[in-house]
Amino acid sequence: MAVVINKVGVIGSGQMGNGIAHVAALAGLDVVLNDVSDDRLKSAMATINGNLSRQVVKKIITDDARKQALNRIATSDTMEGLADCDLVIETAVEKEDVKRKIFHDVCAVLKPEAIVASNTSSISITRLAASTDRPERFIGIHFMNPVPLMELVELIRGIATDDTTFEAAKEFVSRLGKQIAVSEDFPAFIVNRILLPMINEAIYTLYEGVGNVEAIDAAMKLGAHHPMGPLELADFIGLDTCLSIMQVLHEGLADSKYRPCPLLVKYVEAGWLGRKTQRGFYDYRGEKPVPTR
Ligand code: CAA
Repeated sequence: MAVVINKVGVIGSGQMGNGIAHVAALAGLDVVLNDVSDDRLKSAMATINGNLSRQVVKKIITDDARKQALNRIATSDTMEGLADCDLVIETAVEKEDVKRKIFHDVCAVLKPEAIVASNTSSISITRLAASTDRPERFIGIHFMNPVPLMELVELIRGIATDDTTFEAAKEFVSRLGKQIAVSEDFPAFIVNRILLPMINEAIYTLYEGVGNVEAIDAAMKLGAHHPMGPLELADFIGLDTCLSIMQVLHEGLADSKYRPCPLLVKYVEAGWLGRKTQRGFYDYRGEKPVPTR
């Protein structure tokens, strides 16, 4: 049965969730943004408005488009609010038990033909799908950060994902104006399989004293034309997310080359998770980011 996606639910209103709500609403879809508290939803809506406004200032969209997009986003702090969605995308933390609980709760209220997707950056789609009542209607739709600016979305089929689900997901992503890379369901898929070992190596380079934070970032920005240095990018992604992706690679592929750098573990244990906690490889509490090593 072909699925027409008109209404999209986004579970989790953090940086990925609010970015997905932003681009879906701009593409003319109705969106329900879900999170556990009203405060988080209010703050996410303020972020979306801020990011849409930047696009207005840069003349990428009109102010009218900004207003219309905001009007298309409803918020809900209960799963019931997602009941009539054609597609829901989960963007919770990279913890399998948290995701499983969300899928259990949301599948209970969704119509049977609705598609369920995860924005996981590394966890097996087949395994997540198996925990739901609809493995054939389950798929990985993995956006890149910051969602409104990055052109790529990875699509990952689980072993049971059927063709109509895959086609509907392709059409949805194209409607958002994004390009697709199809990845097999192996740990961390394509982008993170390549990007995260590079970031981890940059952290080893710091740990071993080969260079300091500024030297390492300048080296890769100016010497390899990366838009952000690897440590700046790690802070941007979130150091907890970086660590959990390295752990998934290490455990899933059982190869010591994916060993997370002990310095990354230490930063996460300190609660220095990057920009979102205002401290990581840089300290963001002042006017300008200052390296912490
Ligand atoms: N919506 C959201 N954020 C926006 C935005 C918008 N409309 N417009 C700008 N931004 C953000 C940027 O992220 C950055 O944040 P701060 O203001 O808080 O510092 C700032 O606005 C920079 O804005 P600029 O207009 O100066 O943007 P730029 O032209 O310098 O480009 C960038 C910024 C596109 C992010 C560029 O630096 C870049 O490409 N960086 C690399 C990003 C990357 O590699 N992303 C992939 C990460 S991996 C991933 O996402 C997968 C995963 O699972 C971990």
